[in-house]
Amino acid sequence: MTADSGGASQVAIVLGTRPEIIKFAPVIKACDRRGVDCLLVHTGQHYSEDLDQVFFDQLELPTPDYNLEVGSRSHGEQTGRMLEGIEDVLDEHAPDVVLVQGDTNSTLAGALAASKSNVDVGHVEAGLRSFDRDMPEEVNRVVTDHIADYLFPPTEETRSHLERESVAGEIVTTGNTIVDSLYEYRDLAAEKSDVLSDLGLQEDDFYLLTAHRAENVDDRESFARLLEGVSRFAAQTGREVVYPIHPRAQSRLDEFDLTLPEEIRTVEPLDFLDFLRLESAAALAFTDSGGVQEETCILGTPCVTLRYSTERPETAYVGANCLAGLDPDDVVEAGSTMLGKDADWDVPFGDGRAAERILDTLAAGVEPDAAEVSP
Ligand code: UD1
Ligand code: UDP
Repeated sequence: MTADSGGASQVAIVLGTRPEIIKFAPVIKACDRRGVDCLLVHTGQHYSEDLDQVFFDQLELPTPDYNLEVGSRSHGEQTGRMLEGIEDVLDEHAPDVVLVQGDTNSTLAGALAASKSNVDVGHVEAGLRSFDRDMPEEVNRVVTDHIADYLFPPTEETRSHLERESVAGEIVTTGNTIVDSLYEYRDLAAEKSDVLSDLGLQEDDFYLLTAHRAENVDDRESFARLLEGVSRFAAQTGREVVYPIHPRAQSRLDEFDLTLPEEIRTVEPLDFLDFLRLESAAALAFTDSGGVQEETCILGTPCVTLRYSTERPETAYVGANCLAGLDPDDVVEAGSTMLGKDADWDVPFGDGRAAERILDTLAAGVEPDAAEVSP
């Protein structure tokens, strides 16, 4: 199938990390509902139970048809091994289209392997730009967007980046599939999750922290400053901070021999329902995660982003997010600005039907106008 003929009869989905599993879940389920043959290829970039299998179980996703078990390696070695493994799978199955999501090394490898195997590529969550080429994710997104035959930006802003860069593929604005996921799971999280009582927390009486970006946690001084700003704000406002810690950050804490401030409590990475419950119940979230910036905006929790750039500026435009950087004084000031903010903002990421629009587009070949939405 090319981008201007026929419909997709077999879709291959390449994923490898926690956010890709969560954001692809609605697409995998939509394939199932429509009877679209979906070949699931896991690169094995994430493999720890609490970053991987727990999401397949909780979101009731099928076991991947392939797990390439690439694991943790240098960027080049990891991406190279993925390329080789994905190419073998594509040679065997010749799907009509390969879908990739986001900006990880798995995303890049999936897009590149498909392109070299002459298979169409669809990029879900296309067009995001932090304009910071020092981030490995920025390079992954830009390259993937320029390889892709179908681009599915979540918002008009992200679409405009693609148009400005004159990407070659067809662009269909869909909204973000994270909205689809949250609409499906947020009520269930409120109903089923015992995380607040398990951790001894009261609604609105704690802060949530997630930090795992390489540029923040791989540098001792940056990580220490990040922790200092958040803990200072917590001390000033008399609340504790709960930090479900990503294994990259945990290993850096250990390696740098950093002592956690007493206001910050780390816990193991949480499953999706528990994490959604914590995000909803927190008085404020501090994060460097892309997904957490989106989810807090959707769930109505004010957010302070511990970075100097964001590829999700829509969250700041609507008043849900404040970009603070790492300077402790700035983090404290941003916390004061955001704490207690009314969550009366509009959600800029669509209406929860992104997965359906993606599959509509693939089914039609390309009819962007018919499938399009302005979230
Ligand atoms: C990757 C993505 C990042 C994304 C994040 C989602 C790239 C370049 N980065 O970062 O964009 O935000 O996933 O969480 O693709 N580790 C484990 N268990 C695992 C996986 C990793 O312990 O299952 C540890 C290893 O020590 C590993 C480190 O985490 O070296 C980093 O893992 P890696 O996959 O390289 O990058 P992430 O930081 O997870
Ligand atoms: N998440 C989770 N448990 C956690 C932390 C995060 O389920 O302990 C989910 C969160 O709801 C979001 C996704 O993981 O959907 C974000 O992943 P991450 O921050 O690792 O990656 P990023 O979005 O920055 O690429």
